[in-house]
Amino acid sequence: MRVGLAAAEDIPAEGTKCVEVHGRKYALFKVGGQVYCLDNTCTHLGGPLCEGRLAGFVVQCPWHGSRFDVRTGQVVGPPARSAVHAYPTTVEAGKVWADLP
Ligand code: FES
Repeated sequence: MRVGLAAAEDIPAEGTKCVEVHGRKYALFKVGGQVYCLDNTCTHLGGPLCEGRLAGFVVQCPWHGSRFDVRTGQVVGPPARSAVHAYPTTVEAGKVWADLP
């Protein structure tokens, strides 16, 4: 289902934003003007990735430090072992859209 997640301008440059759609939380990231969307829940023990620290394309979970590539959701640093789901986004008329389950 294609869903509007946020106004693109509401996501800080090189920063993060937490959004909730139909009771499920997602983490948005803006890097180099592009917007990326991941499931908000860290695959280690469920930390909120939208509250993590972003460095380039890598977000660090605020709970135990797992690192994920925001472009793909792949783990780039432990203790998490499994990727988080990444959702391709588009920006149209200033709004961020993604296909969500
Ligand atoms: S919950 Fe994210 S690193 Fe542990």
